[in-house]
This record gives sequence, C-alpha cells and structure tokens, in this order.
Amino acid sequence: MLKHPDYDEHERLVYAHDPNSGQDAIIAVHSLALGPALGGVRFRAYPDVAAGLTDALRLSRAMSYKNALGGRPFGGAKAVILGDPASAKTDALLEWFGREVARQGGDYICAEDAGISPEDISVIARKTRHVRNIAADRGGPAPYTAYGVFIGILATVRQVLNSEPTGLTISVQGLGGVGYALCERLHRAGAKLIVSDIDSTRTDAAERDFGARVVSSADAHRVAADVFAPCAFGGILNEQSISELQAPVVAGAANNQLATAEDDLRLSRRGITYSPDYVINAGGIRATEAPGIRFDHEAALRRVEGIEETLLEVLSAAAATGTPTSAVADALARQRIGSGQRR
Ligand code: NAI
Repeated sequence: MLKHPDYDEHERLVYAHDPNSGQDAIIAVHSLALGPALGGVRFRAYPDVAAGLTDALRLSRAMSYKNALGGRPFGGAKAVILGDPASAKTDALLEWFGREVARQGGDYICAEDAGISPEDISVIARKTRHVRNIAADRGGPAPYTAYGVFIGILATVRQVLNSEPTGLTISVQGLGGVGYALCERLHRAGAKLIVSDIDSTRTDAAERDFGARVVSSADAHRVAADVFAPCAFGGILNEQSISELQAPVVAGAANNQLATAEDDLRLSRRGITYSPDYVINAGGIRATEAPGIRFDHEAALRRVEGIEETLLEVLSAAAATGTPTSAVADALARQRIGSGQRR
C-alpha cells in the first residue's frame, strides 16, 4: 500500500465488507489537519477494486486541497462503494455504510457524490450523524458550484484577457446540474454560448433558452472560443486535446480535468491559462456549513465568492514564477494543510 503511486501519507484507509450484501466499500481519509475530513461517497461499478482504491486515494487528496484552499474547517476524505448503484443500492446497504461512517467517530463526514443522492444521504444518516446534505433545501451543491465557476471564469478572463464576459464566446461541455446553471449565468452576463452534451434534450433546451450553438462533445474543446469550460467528465485535458485547444482559457467544473500531471505543463507551454479544477469548482464545499451551524444562503454565497481571491492568488503567482497553475495551487494547499498540522 505504501508504494501505491497515489498514496500520499493518507491518515487512514478503511476497507469494509458487508457480509449481507457482499458489497465492499473504501473510506480514504487523507488529512485531518484542518478539521474532520469531509468528502463525498461515490457509488460506482469500478472495473476492479484497484480502480476504486485509486479513485478514493486521489479524490481524498483533492478534497483536502479543495477544503484547505476554500478556507474551510475540514480535512479531506472520499469514500467509494464498489458496485453498480442501479442494481446494488438498497436501504440496507446504505445503512450498513452509515454504520461504517459512524465507526470513524466523526473523523469522516460523508456527503453526496456520483451515484449517491441527497435522499441516499438521509438513509445513511439513520445510522450516523456524521453526514452533510449540502444545501439540501436549496437544490444541493450544484447551484453553488455553478456560481463559483461563474465567479472563477469572470476572474480569469479579467486577469488574462483583460475582458468582461459580454461578447466573449464560451464553450460549455456538459449541461447537467452545474453546466446548465453556469450557462444561465453566462447568458445573463452577455456571453455567447457554444454547448455540447450527449443528452440532446439538454442541448435543445440551451439552444432555446440561451440561443446557444450546439456542437458535438468531441468538438467542444476544439471550437474557436475564448473559454473552454469542461463540466461533464474528468481527464478531458490530455496530450491530444491540449494540442487541439483553441481557447486561451480553460475554466470549468469537472473534477480531475488533467489526465496526467504533465498536462499542466503542456497547457502552460501553449500559453493557455488553466484555472485549477479544485479551486474553481469548490462552490459546493464553500457553501457547506461546519457541523452545528445553521445554513445561511447569503453567507454561503459570500464564501463562494471567495473563489475569486484564491484564484487570483494562484494565477498571479503562476504568472510571476512561470509555474503551471495547478502546481502553484497544490503548493499553496499543502502549505495551508502544513500550517494546520503545526497548530
Ligand atoms: P451531472 O451528472 O448533473 O451532469 C453531467 C452532464 O454531462 C449530463 O448532462 C450528462 O449528460 C453530460 N455528459 C456526460 N457525458 C458526456 C460527454 N461525453 N460529453 C458531453 N456531455 C456529457 O453532473 P454535475 O453535477 O453537473 O457535475 C458536472 C461535473 O462537475 C462533474 O465532473 C462533477 O464531478 C463536477 N463537480 C460537480 C459538483 C457539484 O456540485 N455537482 C462539485 C464539483 C465538481
């Protein structure tokens, strides 16, 4: 385990087996330096256990970095339930997982993620109080994430293109909870939209509501645009796609946008400004309240707006030192986690 390429001195790694359902789950707690470790639980049919482990290790570290740069009083964790949610998800299994969360004694706070809905979190909560239903009465985290990405795009185009969004062309890939809400804001701000999604009902709606131009998902990154905003899936920025990018700015919601660590350097060598994913997509986490504190929508929005300051700090340091933005953000996050450890 200690030689696993994605092991990064994680505080705790739990492998749990439910004898009743035969399902397995992994809880990866990356850091507790800044507070209890908050992170989603993902329910997914991984090809094998190794793929689930890799996801949990990587995503838990990303959560530590996201929480640290968001100024949140949380460490980072991620859990995965290994299975197909369509066939394997039952209340009994979710309650079993809730007991596993309870056994972490509050060190792990679980929230929704891919394959886990706010309703599922309520089932898990029958067995543990260490859950967060992020802004459940406000439509979940997606509207806050979208607002944060919007704020981040504005900050980036002001810094890099010396421009406001009015008249800019923005290619949004993925029109789900985050992508569609982002389009609404960009449209209101006067941007021209190019959109793509594998679900034509989403693109039809964007065409109708925002006068967006629809392209295929494969073309989303290579159309002429000022900003490419990936809001569908990770790994979109790879050697091939980076060589084809036409936009001078990449700023979107998708997690793990860089396929490999070298892709950050590839972007910076091409003079493309990349707003690191976990900085710009932290709106949902920033909106989340610490345990025991009542949720306040307006206060949550102010915290989301803090993305601008963090992003400008990263972009300025990257420009001043010639270091890729993602490397700058990682270093800043590690520094904040390190100062928490010393407290
Ligand atoms: P979602 O599941 O609501 O929407 C995803 C959209 O992408 C769907 O409309 C789907 O049809 C589309 N899509 C799937 N494959 C595609 C492809 N190959 N090409 C084009 N479109 C495709 O997801 P959501 O919540 O909008 O999240 C979007 C991204 O942002 C994900 O990568 C997610 O991990 C990330 N993210 C979401 C957060 C949230 O608060 N929901 C927080 C941080 C990151």
